[in-house]
Amino acid sequence: MKQIGVLISGRGSNLQAIIDAGLPVAVVISNDPSAFGLERAKKHNIPAVIINHKDYKDKNTYELEIVKVLQKHKVDLVCLAGYMRIVGEVLLQNYPNKILNIHPALLPSFPGLHSQKQALAHGVKISGCTVHFVDEGCDTGPIIMQAAVPVVENDTEETLSARILEQEHIIYPQAIKLVCEGRIKNEKKV
Ligand code: GRF
Repeated sequence: MKQIGVLISGRGSNLQAIIDAGLPVAVVISNDPSAFGLERAKKHNIPAVIINHKDYKDKNTYELEIVKVLQKHKVDLVCLAGYMRIVGEVLLQNYPNKILNIHPALLPSFPGLHSQKQALAHGVKISGCTVHFVDEGCDTGPIIMQAAVPVVENDTEETLSARILEQEHIIYPQAIKLVCEGRIKNEKKV
């Protein structure tokens, strides 16, 4: 089984879903020292490492440190779970086609931040979440799995986010498992 490294910046409920699914998480890294997900990792005796981007002079130096920690823990697949930084070339080159992300919208609709708010503002009737390979763009990589949820009358950003999150916790571990087992591959040239 492949070893997984999870990058977070906050709450870490997707990290929890990955752990609860029994997937082999070798290390959790957060750029935000106050991320609650770090506590979740510690509770499961998973190494929890803070690498604060603010402590580094540029993105490359910051990402080199991440790569160092991932390699130390023999990580072969990187899963972004609420990681609030755009992945740069150092991570992409060291983990080509080996980085996954979960996004709270049906991509290619509503990439970037505040997707649920964007979905409500556009009046879509169906939204959902997407697991995809990470490339150099923002939420643009090849799609692995999606789940749809209805948008209901009087939905707020909070109620829609909660409905989507429930599905995130189901499909992210499923998609990771498929990639770990080599049943899904991204063969795009890097
Ligand atoms: C999720 O909605 C995820 O799709 C997005 O950021 C949120 C992270 O939530 N990328 P959590 O930290 O996993 O609870």
